[in-house]
Amino acid sequence: MSAETVIPVPAEWAARAKVDTARYAEMYRQSLGAPDAFWLEHGRRIDWIKPFTKVSNWSFDEADFGIKWFEDGVLNVSANCLDRHLESRGDDIAIIWEPDDPKAEPRRISYRELHAEVCRFANVLKAAGAKKGDRITIYLPMIPEAAFAMLACTRIGAIHSVVFGGFSPDSIAGRVQDCDSNIIITADEGLRGGRKVALKANVDVAVESCPSVKKVVVVRHTGGEVAMTAGRDFWYHEAAAGVSADCPPEPMGAEDPLFILYTSGSTGKPKGVLHTTGGYLVWASLTHELLFDYRRGEIYWCAADVGWVTGHSYIVYGPLANGATTLMYEGVPNWPTPSRIWEVVDRHQVNILYTAPTVLRSLMREGDGPVTSTSRKSLRLLGTVGEPINPEAWLWYHRVPGEGRCPIIDTWWQTETGAAMIAPFPGATDLKPGSATKPFFGVALEIVDADGKVLEGATEGNLVVTRSWPGQMRTVWGDHARFFQTYFSTYKGKYFTGDGCRRDADGYFWITGRVDDVINVSGHRMGTAEVESALVAHAKVAEAAVVGFPHDIKGQGIYAYVTLNAGEEPSDDLRSELVKWVRTEIGPIATPDTIQFSPGLPKTRSGKIMRRILRKIAEGDTSNLGDTTTLADPSVVDSLVANRAR
Ligand code: WTA
Repeated sequence: MSAETVIPVPAEWAARAKVDTARYAEMYRQSLGAPDAFWLEHGRRIDWIKPFTKVSNWSFDEADFGIKWFEDGVLNVSANCLDRHLESRGDDIAIIWEPDDPKAEPRRISYRELHAEVCRFANVLKAAGAKKGDRITIYLPMIPEAAFAMLACTRIGAIHSVVFGGFSPDSIAGRVQDCDSNIIITADEGLRGGRKVALKANVDVAVESCPSVKKVVVVRHTGGEVAMTAGRDFWYHEAAAGVSADCPPEPMGAEDPLFILYTSGSTGKPKGVLHTTGGYLVWASLTHELLFDYRRGEIYWCAADVGWVTGHSYIVYGPLANGATTLMYEGVPNWPTPSRIWEVVDRHQVNILYTAPTVLRSLMREGDGPVTSTSRKSLRLLGTVGEPINPEAWLWYHRVPGEGRCPIIDTWWQTETGAAMIAPFPGATDLKPGSATKPFFGVALEIVDADGKVLEGATEGNLVVTRSWPGQMRTVWGDHARFFQTYFSTYKGKYFTGDGCRRDADGYFWITGRVDDVINVSGHRMGTAEVESALVAHAKVAEAAVVGFPHDIKGQGIYAYVTLNAGEEPSDDLRSELVKWVRTEIGPIATPDTIQFSPGLPKTRSGKIMRRILRKIAEGDTSNLGDTTTLADPSVVDSLVANRAR
């Protein structure tokens, strides 16, 4: 092992490990040496209506490009998450719901109750005209009905597209139009940190430009006033009162679509990442069980939102497929006090907690007091995801909330990968603060340079995956060519992650962050192009360039260079107006931290904006801007530096 901090696997973890060090090495070797034999065995961890006989069939080459896993198998995801647990653990709690308001009552839903709720929801959808293959948009707060709705879609073979509750009407509309949704499921209002979110009102605005939408299902949550359009909108509780709690699961092919989830790329609008049924469920459930060392009866809390992939795989599908108790939290980690997250841990005796580095950094700032005033005795494992975790935050998580006894499981993955790809096994992998450590079974990684040359040993470059894995996305909804182009054309025959990565002498992987124009703000993934197009949609803006810059809490902040139309004058009022504009165009997560009015942007003679320079200026690193001689007008740079905001 090299000189940096290494935290060895504790003896008691090694002793009771599902996968210990030797077993990890052996299974990893098998998973790459004889992948079909490996996945033949592990593909059987879920229930198949008709077992698969073919394991994998894929190629990353243009000529015969395609990805299939377990292709002749037939299954149903909701049956795997519900029906198959009824006999052995029907009375176990499936979902614990912790409300935003700490004084409100939590809900506890057993597997038997969840089964009935999902069947009822499925029957309501059917009565509203939903059929197998339909795209159903879900725009709900973090309430159990979000899980009911997702599982109800899978029960009848409809494809769900969950849209994060923080997105604006425009963002909803774009996503609904892209996949031609015929049904939207929403709620009257959401609640976050004591504040109401006008979900139904947002849907009303969105639907004006979405002719495909025939029905809007409204879950009553806060009881707030909402407008209902006759013939189109109906209350879920009214419709559910009259339907049966019996709904047979639709038999689905392993490669039938399961869900679409829109995510940001380096160019254009967010793309609809499509996951299919069999491979995704195997991947989500296997990684959930092994990386979190899940054991029956334990309380597991993934503090993400179901609007993101983490919520799909690790609040809903992974844990429920494993018969786990999954905690769903409506609110925000630091409201009403910075102790809230730990109070929820104590209230529900949470054993496993999975959250994001940005949350840890914001809590760290409050000091140890709000943590140490709580017990946290139930905790035995802590996870993190979404962005690189700085060693300081990692060590704090380990030392203060975890009291040195909980392994930190840093999981690197992406919407596209379905579930975790690089992460330590808690009973097998010595930990290094800041490193996601080693690949999961079946994950074949390489680090390459800009030209695609494979770099060996301790090195740094771009991270690629050279073999398909069951949880891999299958296409971009409606644009298969874009799927190939985005991920497989940069490095021939390989999946390009978009992430930079260092590998140390011990073979540990350290993700260094995106190398493309995707930024990661508080663990929320965003394309700089999306923020730019929101800005230029404003009547006074001629041009905009957006870059990320390092931010102590958020990981990255949003820095926008804005050129105004001739005749428009920069002002603080206009700056606030533009910030507000972006929030309404995209949503609060895209709020620019800084807007610098710039009469010109640094462009090459062919008109390409040199973002490298803009990034450096945003970072405040103006001493070495590199070669600026290829710019059409190098003097632009001096003016940008001189007028750097803050
Ligand atoms: C980043 C979230 C470092 C990475 C599951 C990736 C991480 C992007 C980690 C995907 C991690 C995620 N360490 N970086 N543990 N986890 N990332 O699609 O840049 O929202 O490409 O999926 O987040 O974000 P997405």
